[in-house]
Amino acid sequence: MATSLTQDDQTLLFQALSDKAQRVRPLILSAGQKVWLKQVENLSLRLKLQKGSAAAAFLRERNGLHIMGRLGLPVAPILAEGEDWFMTPDLGLTLRRLMWHPTADNTAAFKAGALALAKLHLAGHRHGRPAIRDICWDGNAARFIDLERFKPGKASLNARAVDLIIFVHSLYADALKPGCASASANRDTALATYRRAAPEIWARAAQIASWLRWLAPLARLAGSGREMRAIAPTLAVLRARQG
Ligand SMILES: Nc1ncnc2c1ncn2[C@@H]1O[C@H](COP(=O)(O)OP(=O)(O)O)[C@@H](O)[C@H]1O
Ligand SMILES: [Mg+2]
Repeated sequence: MATSLTQDDQTLLFQALSDKAQRVRPLILSAGQKVWLKQVENLSLRLKLQKGSAAAAFLRERNGLHIMGRLGLPVAPILAEGEDWFMTPDLGLTLRRLMWHPTADNTAAFKAGALALAKLHLAGHRHGRPAIRDICWDGNAARFIDLERFKPGKASLNARAVDLIIFVHSLYADALKPGCASASANRDTALATYRRAAPEIWARAAQIASWLRWLAPLARLAGSGREMRAIAPTLAVLRARQG
């Protein structure tokens, strides 16, 4: 339960919990602290079929945040929790947001984001879907906020390499958004930082990218969205001798 919350904060929380459940929403606590409340999503039948059980994903995520947090890995800390909700502190802006709406030099943020993933991987874990829209930077630290695809236990080198491929793909896909002047520099900073920090995992990802090279021409034919267009450069950069 929310034992560390003041009476006013508990009232605010219970009001929020009695509204229609939203997967995630910001709240301002009585002392002015911004936090985020996460709940089990209320899915329509169609979305339930598409996304699987929201309750299972919620428990997987909360469990993942606890496990990774106890290991000192860079994930959102849980401030308070109940049966079907938990609260995390505001951890700043996502790397996607910083890439798309830069207000300052974001080099430190993209270095820290890549190091956060490398740290998780070097500790033997995988994230599940480490996209840059799920990494926050508060000016000081980069941390993962969204662990819906988390699997507990140690991950194989292949599983961590696939995690890296997903990260690289998210950097390319988001950097393809038109009109973001520093996006490719941000992307390249993250790639070079990860590669230096975890060269063995990069090398395995390069091998997998080589097996998957038939995907590149297929993806070019399959669609013109950013996600599809990001596949060929993702495979190419991983296979390149120097990043
Ligand atoms: N702890 C947090 N700090 C800052 N922003 C957050 C935090 N938690 C959630 N957000 C914001 O809410 C959005 C959605 O949260 P997320 O955990 O990624 O859930 P979803 O499963 O809906 O993607 C994020 O992109 C981010 O903008
Ligand atoms: Mg998310």
